[in-house]
Amino acid sequence: MTTSAAPDRADIGIIGGTGFYSFLDDPQVVEVDTPFGRPSAPISIGEVGGRSVAFLPRHGERHQFAPHRVNYRANLWALRSVGVRQVLGPCAVGSLKPEHGPGTFVVPDQVVDRTWGREHTVYDTEGPVVHVGFADPYCPRGRATLLNNASPETGVLVDGGTLVVINGPRFSSRAESQWHAAAGWSVVGMTGVPESSIARELAMCYSTVCLVTDHDAGVEGGESVSHVEVVRQFGANIDRLKSLLRDVISTLPEPETDEEATCACRRALDGIELPIT
Ligand code: ADE
Repeated sequence: MTTSAAPDRADIGIIGGTGFYSFLDDPQVVEVDTPFGRPSAPISIGEVGGRSVAFLPRHGERHQFAPHRVNYRANLWALRSVGVRQVLGPCAVGSLKPEHGPGTFVVPDQVVDRTWGREHTVYDTEGPVVHVGFADPYCPRGRATLLNNASPETGVLVDGGTLVVINGPRFSSRAESQWHAAAGWSVVGMTGVPESSIARELAMCYSTVCLVTDHDAGVEGGESVSHVEVVRQFGANIDRLKSLLRDVISTLPEPETDEEATCACRRALDGIELPIT
């Protein structure tokens, strides 16, 4: 492991979730500061499948940041400042559908924000007012690449569905969970926003793969969700998740290809000057 004050560059960023604290062999470790403070941890940069990748553990190296305390603005800004334009943000979720049990991978295409009190925008000063489009929160290329990498090891990747993001850190009550399920939403997590929306504010491609660790409280009148069980399930499936991400990284479109240049996520700020280089 090498520590450096001078940021190296990467074009793909991975934000690891609960139980996901390392990804790269022999990384270059880069300390980055941002206008919003420090990211959750120094950024590790290394190579996977011939691509340069930056890894950041969302909850910190010691899992010290609960979902409502993660500095999402600093995390995205830090990745962007080392060159990242494509982010994969895997996360642990509860399932709101009986048919999607623990171990299932879901690649949602929509998100509902039920968080509150989080620093949720990088455009927070008196300056140009910026509204970014968020009708389709996830990068279509990132989603397609994830779905194309289903394998016997991953099993079927569920294509689409809505991730509802609660503030946490507590899990949902049974009534909240039943409400979320009745609305037709698929999975529930605690970190999907503002991570995805800030990525869009920085014109970065962002997609997620949700690893189901439990059936949420309202599904089939199940047990209350237990943190210990969430961590256990994540640990049991982390190697499958890492292997999927490795395959995805090596097949994501290269930067500067026409496909990437025309991706809608990258045009989110067309006509607006980005406050970052
Ligand atoms: N993360 C993992 N399981 C969860 C659940 N049931 N609710 C919210 N976040 C979760």
